[in-house]
Amino acid sequence: MTNTVRVSLDTRSYDVQIGCGLIGDAGRQMSPLLARPRVAILTDEKVAGLHLEALRDGLSVVGIDSDTLALPPGEATKSWAQLSRSVEWLLERRIERRDVVVALGGGVIGDLAGFAAAILRRGVRFVQIPTSLLAQVDSSVGGKTGINTPQGKNLVGAFHQPSLVLADIGVLDTLSARDFLAGYGEVVKYGLLGDAGFFEWLERHGPVLAVGDRELRAEAVRRSVQMKADIVARDETEQGDRALLNLGHTFCHALEAATGYSERLLHGEGVAIGCALAFETSARLGLCPQEEPSRVRAHLKAMGMKTDLRDIPGDLPDADGLLALMAQDKKVIDGQLRFILARGIGQAFVAEDVDPGIVRGVLADALDSRI
Ligand code: GLY
Repeated sequence: MTNTVRVSLDTRSYDVQIGCGLIGDAGRQMSPLLARPRVAILTDEKVAGLHLEALRDGLSVVGIDSDTLALPPGEATKSWAQLSRSVEWLLERRIERRDVVVALGGGVIGDLAGFAAAILRRGVRFVQIPTSLLAQVDSSVGGKTGINTPQGKNLVGAFHQPSLVLADIGVLDTLSARDFLAGYGEVVKYGLLGDAGFFEWLERHGPVLAVGDRELRAEAVRRSVQMKADIVARDETEQGDRALLNLGHTFCHALEAATGYSERLLHGEGVAIGCALAFETSARLGLCPQEEPSRVRAHLKAMGMKTDLRDIPGDLPDADGLLALMAQDKKVIDGQLRFILARGIGQAFVAEDVDPGIVRGVLADALDSRI
C-alpha cells in the first residue's frame, strides 16, 4: 500500500509517496510531470550498484529514457567541484527548463542534485528518490538544498522544492543497522519535538521496526513526513516554526565538528545524542521534569543507539571547546545561542538567549559520564 503526504506550498505543492516498490513504479509516478520522455539521474556509485537498474527499468517500462551521472559516495561530494561537474553534465545532456532531474540517493545526493536543479537554467524541476531513512524522513522533504564549503556545512544553497518525492520503504532493507539507526535518530526527533503520542508509539514499536517490519517502517516514515510537511507548510524558509526541526542539532553540529565529520559520528547519531542533551538542558532549566530526559535516553538505549557522549569513540574537546564549536552554529544570532528546548516530550520550542553556563554544566557532566 502507498500512502501520500501532501506538502502544501501554493504553486510549489507536491506529494510525498511512501510505500514498497516505488522505484519500480517511478516511470508511472513521474510521467505526468514530464514534457518529454527523458530524465537525467544524479546518484552515487554505491546507490547506483543497488538501485539504479530497478529505477531505469521502472522508467523504460513506460518509455522514459534516462542518462545517469554517478558521483563518489560520501559527504565530500557536497562540494563546489561536484556541483559544477553535475551542472555541466546536465547542460551537456541538454537538460532544459521543462525537463526533470532525478536525485537517487541519500541526503548528500538529494542536497547536491536539488541545488544543481535550482541553479540550472535558473531552476528546473527535480524529483527526490531518497534511499536512506534519514533522507526519507528529513532531507528529501522541504526543499533545503546545498553544498558544504571549507567554512562549514550547508552554508551555500537554495530553497528549491522537489516536484515529487518517492520514498520506497523496500530500499531501507539494504541499509546497515548503523545507518538505519542513524536515520531513526531523526524519526525520534519528530516525536520529541511535537507528538508525544508518536514517541510512545516508537517506544512500543521501535525495536520491531528496526529489525525490518516494513509496515511499521512505512508508518514511522509517514508520520515523520506528515509532521515535517505541516511545519514546512507553516514556515517554508525557517523564519519561525521550522527551527523546531533542529531539535538536538546545535549539540549535534558541535559534536560533528569535533569528530571531523567522520565515521566516528554519523549525523543522525549526533541528532539522537543532541536530543538527549537538549532534554537534559531543559530539565536543568526547570522547563520539564528530570523524568523526561531519562525517558528519552532509555528509549535510545533500548534501540541500541548512541545515547551519551561516552558512546562516541575517541577523545572530545572539553566543555568550553564544545561551546566554542556551538558558537559557529548557523542558529547563532547576534552572538546569542538559540536552542530548541522542551517543556516535555512533544513540546519543543525555540529558546533565545540560553545561559551558556547551564549548557557548559550539562556538557561537563556528560563528558564526565555523570549523565
Ligand atoms: N532538516 C531540517 C529542515 O529541513 O529544516
